Amino acid sequence: MKKFKRHLITSALPYANGPIHIGHLAGVYVPSDIYTRYLRMKGEDVISICGSDEHGVPITLKARNEGVSPQEIVDRYHTINKKAFEDFGIAFDIYSRTSNKIHYETASEFFLKLYEKREFIEKTTEQYYDEEAACFLADRYITGTCPHCGNENAYGDQCEKCGTSLSPNELKNPRSTVSGSKPVLRETLHWYLPLDKYEPWLRKWILEDHREWKSNVYGQCKSWLDQGLQPRAVSRDLDWGVPVPVKGAEGKVLYVWFDAPIGYISATRELTPDWEKYWKDPETRMIHFIGKDNIVFHCIIFPAMLNAEGSFILPDNVPANEFLNLENDKISTSRNWAVWLHEYLSDFPGKQDVLRYSLCASAPETKDNDFTWKEFQARNNNELVAILGNFVNRTLVLTGNYYGGRVPERGTADENDEMVLKEIDHLKANVETGLDNFRFREALKEAMNLARLGNKYLADTEPWKVVKTDPERVKTIMNIALQITANLTILLEPFLPFSMKKLREWINLGDLNWNFAGKTDLLAPGHQISKPELLFEKIEDEAIQKQIDKLLQTKKSNEAPAQCLPAKDPVTFEEFSKMDLRTATILEAEKVPKTTKLLKLKIDTGIDIRTIVSGIAEYFEPANIIGKQISIVANLEPRKIRGIESKGMILMAEDKDGKLVMVSPDEKVNNGSTIK
Ligand code: MF3
Ligand code: ZN
Repeated sequence: MKKFKRHLITSALPYANGPIHIGHLAGVYVPSDIYTRYLRMKGEDVISICGSDEHGVPITLKARNEGVSPQEIVDRYHTINKKAFEDFGIAFDIYSRTSNKIHYETASEFFLKLYEKREFIEKTTEQYYDEEAACFLADRYITGTCPHCGNENAYGDQCEKCGTSLSPNELKNPRSTVSGSKPVLRETLHWYLPLDKYEPWLRKWILEDHREWKSNVYGQCKSWLDQGLQPRAVSRDLDWGVPVPVKGAEGKVLYVWFDAPIGYISATRELTPDWEKYWKDPETRMIHFIGKDNIVFHCIIFPAMLNAEGSFILPDNVPANEFLNLENDKISTSRNWAVWLHEYLSDFPGKQDVLRYSLCASAPETKDNDFTWKEFQARNNNELVAILGNFVNRTLVLTGNYYGGRVPERGTADENDEMVLKEIDHLKANVETGLDNFRFREALKEAMNLARLGNKYLADTEPWKVVKTDPERVKTIMNIALQITANLTILLEPFLPFSMKKLREWINLGDLNWNFAGKTDLLAPGHQISKPELLFEKIEDEAIQKQIDKLLQTKKSNEAPAQCLPAKDPVTFEEFSKMDLRTATILEAEKVPKTTKLLKLKIDTGIDIRTIVSGIAEYFEPANIIGKQISIVANLEPRKIRGIESKGMILMAEDKDGKLVMVSPDEKVNNGSTIK
C-alpha cells in the first residue's frame, strides 16, 4: 500500500434535526473513532473532522412544525449531539457546524470558483410553486403519490416506502406541505453540475483505480454509473442555507448536499491554519466514514465537485457501512424506534464501552444487521465480563496477593510459555490487518482473542495450585499474564477507550503507543501495579427487560393513534358515579320517518318503559334488534329529537371506521341491573 504522510478522517455530518442513535454510532462514528485512535497510537499525523449538517428541508420543516426558527432547531441539536459524541469518547479534533461564518465563506468561494470556471449549467425549468404561501416547493415541501408504489405520502425527493429517489414532477396528486394547497408550475432558474461530463473520469477513478473499495460501496457506485449520470441541481428556492453568491439569485440557496460536504473543508479551516496541507497535498490520505445512504454523495457527487474545482485531493477510501436495525425493525426517528445515546447513558451510566463494544461486534459492515438487547447483554456478560474482565481480574488479584503488586521476574519459559508469548505478536498482526482493511469486527475479535488466550493460559497453568509446590514457576506464569494484560490495554484501546484507560492506570503503564504491542517486556520486574477494581459488571435480566418493555411501549403507542382516539382527562369516582348506567331490553324498534339515521326504540329499563331515539339506523335493521339486551345511560337529560322525546342513550362502541356495535351484557341479566 502507498505510504501517506498524513490522514484526513471525515465522519458524515449528522443533520442537526434530531438526536444521535445507535444506528449512527454503529455505522459511522464508532468505526471512524476506532480508526482514528489506531492511527494516532501509531504516531501518524491524523485529524478527525465532523460537525452538524445544519441546512436542508427537514430542518426547516421541523422548525415550521414547532413554530420556531431553523436556527433554534439546529442550536438545540448541535449542542445535544456534540455532547453525545463527547460522552461516548468519539474523539473528533473538531465538531463544527455548517451555520458557521467560515462555512458560508468556504461554500460560497467553492461555488464561485466553479461558477467562474463555467462548470455549471444554468437552466430555467418549471417547478412547483405554492400560490397561497408564495414560495417554491423544494424537495420535502411537496408530497404526493409515489408513481412506483402508490404511497400517498411520498416526498418530492424520495418515497420512504419503496426507497425510490424521485423528482417532484413525478409525484401524482402533488400537495404543498406548507399550505396543503395544490401547487402550480412556475419557471425558476437553477445551477446544475453536469455529472454526465464526469462520468468517464469517475468510471476510471472508481471502477479501475479503486477496486479495493468495499464491495457494497463499489457495487453501488457501479450501479449508479451504469444507469448513466444526469446533471444535478446544486441550488434550491429556499430561505435557509448558504445564499447562491451570484447576481440574480435572490431567494436561492445552495442545495444542502452541495454545501454539506464542503463542511469538511470549512471545519478543517476552522481547526488549523495549516488546513491546506490536509486538503491539497496528494500525500494526504482522505477517508470518508459514512452510512450507505450517503454513498452516491461521497463517491460520485462530491468527488465530481472536487475534480471540477481542481485544487483538492480526492478520498482514498469510503468505507461505508450498511444499516443497523433494532429488534428486527428499521430504526426510525419519527416512530421513535431507536436507542438514543443520551437515554442509554442515563439507563447505563458509565457503560459507554459496553455499547461501543457490542455495536462494533455486530456492526453492519457487509450487510444490514440487527441490534437486540439480549445480544447486548450476552456480549457484556459472556465476553466483556467472563473473558476480558475475568482474565484481567485474576491476573491483577493474584499479582497483588503473591507479590504485593510487584511484577515478578520471568524465569525460563517452557514450550507452552514460548508459544503464548509468540501468539501475542501474531494476534497484534491480525488486529492490524483487520483495522487496516476497515474490518473492525474482525479486528475486535482478534484483540479479544488475546484475552481468551490469557484465560486459557491461566486455566492450563493453574498458578493458584502450583504456588503451593513451585512458587518460582508461578513467577514466570504471572509475568506472562501481566505482559498479556499490558498488551490488551494497547490492542483494545481503540475499541474500549474508557476501560483501557482505567486498566492502564491500574497497571501503571504510561505511554500509549501502538508500536509497543506485541512486546513481551512491557512491564519490567519490580514494576508496581495497584489494586484493581472490576473492569466490567454483569448486566441483569431486569435491566434488559426494562429496555425491551420500553420498546414494546413504543410499538403500542405507534399503533394506537390509528386505532383509537387519545385518552381523555381523568375523572374522579364521584363524577363517574353520577352516571346511571344500567341494562335494558329493546321491546320495539322502528325507523323515524324521513330520516336515514334515526331509530325510535321502546325500551324496558327495569324502572320503566320509555322511548329513546338513537342514531343507529344505518347499522341495524329494526327487526334484528328487537328483544336484544343492551346498556344505557338512564339519567341523560331528556331531549326532543324530531319531535319525539328521547329519555336516555344507548351505549355503542364505535371503531375507527365509524362502525357501531352495541355494548351488551355477555349473559342475560335483569333489566335495570346497574353497570359499574
Ligand atoms: N447529513 C447527512 C446525513 O445525515 C450527511 C451529510 S455528510 C456531508 O445523511 F458530507 F454532506 F457532510
Ligand atoms: Zn414508492
